[in-house]
Amino acid sequence: MSRKPVVLITGASGEIGHGLIERLSRNAERPVITLDLSPLAPDLSPLVRQHYVGSVLDPQLLDRILAEYEIDLVFHLAAVLSTRGEFAPVTAHKVNVEGTLAMLEFAQRQGESHGRPVVFLDPSSIAAYGLPSLAAKRAAGMVKENEFNTPTTMYGCNKLYGELLGSYYASHYKQLSFDPVRAKVDFRAIRFPGLISAVTLPSGGTSDYAPEMIHAAAEGKPYACFVRPDTRIPFMAMPDAIEAMIKLALMAPERLSRRVYNIRAFSPSAGEIHDIVASAFPNAVMTTSVDAKRQGIVDSWPEDVDDTAARRDWGHAPRFDLQAAFRDYLIPTIRKRYS
Ligand code: SER
Repeated sequence: MSRKPVVLITGASGEIGHGLIERLSRNAERPVITLDLSPLAPDLSPLVRQHYVGSVLDPQLLDRILAEYEIDLVFHLAAVLSTRGEFAPVTAHKVNVEGTLAMLEFAQRQGESHGRPVVFLDPSSIAAYGLPSLAAKRAAGMVKENEFNTPTTMYGCNKLYGELLGSYYASHYKQLSFDPVRAKVDFRAIRFPGLISAVTLPSGGTSDYAPEMIHAAAEGKPYACFVRPDTRIPFMAMPDAIEAMIKLALMAPERLSRRVYNIRAFSPSAGEIHDIVASAFPNAVMTTSVDAKRQGIVDSWPEDVDDTAARRDWGHAPRFDLQAAFRDYLIPTIRKRYS
C-alpha cells in the first residue's frame, strides 16, 4: 500500500503559513498537508489535502502522519516568537527546540521510510543575533551569518540552537554508530528579517511595530509605536519571504555552500516607516511610546544583514524594496482589506 506524497507545513495557521499555503497550492502536483494547534482559516482549508489540529510535540500524531503520507519537503513554521517567549521561556524552549527536534526526527524517519533526502526548511531569524550595544550595532552595519551569534532572547537562543540541531541532523547524525546511519535530513535555514504582510497581523513578535503601525493606520485606529523613531532593523514584504523559502527549498543541494542564510530586502528606521504610512494615510494618528524593554530587544538585533551568500547560491532577489513594498503591495492590499 503506497502512502500519498505531500508537502508538510507545521505552524500552518500562522502568518507565514497563510501565504505559503496559497503559494504552494498553485502547484496541484504537490498537495499540502498542514499541522497547527489551531484550525485552518476557512479560506485556506480548501487549499490543503488534510489539516491536523495538534502539536509538533505529539509523537502519536506525528506517527499517524508518517503512516499516512510520504513527505520529502517540510516547512517547519511552528514557533513561539520573541516577545511571547520572554513571558513563557520554558514553553518557548519546548515549542522552538523540542518541537524542532521532534520534527527533525520525523524528517529522518520519513527519509528512512522512502529512501530519499527530506528537505527541511527552517525559518530562523535576525533574533539569532545579539549586538552588545547600540554603538556596536551602528558600527557593525550589515552583519554576516557567523557574526554576533549571541542572542539575548529565549526565541533567539532557540532559533540559533535549532540551526545547529538541523545542521547536526544533516551532517553528523549518529556519527559513532557501528552500522552506518544515513542522514536523511537536508536542512536549510533562512534567517528572516521582520516580515510585513498585508493580509495578516503578526502576534507575539518584537518586530511587530512595523506591521502594527501600517494596519492600524489603514483601519483608522490610533497607534503608539513602542520603539524610538531611529530604531533600524531589516524588514521584508511577505511575498518575498515566501518566494525565498520556496527558492531555497527547491535549489539543488550541490549549489548550496552553507545551511543557514541571511536574506534582506530593505532596512528602514521606525521613523521612515512612520513617514511613509503618514503620507499614505494622512489621517492616521501615530505616536511613540517607547517600551524600554522591547526597545532593548530590537536594539540587540542588527540594523542590516549581509545576504551575499543567498543571492549567489540560490538567487535570492526580493521583488519589493521599501518604496515598492508600500506602493505596490502593502498599501493597495491593506486598503482593500479594511475598506
Ligand atoms: N519577527 C520575529 C519576532 O519579532 C523575529 O524573527 O520575534
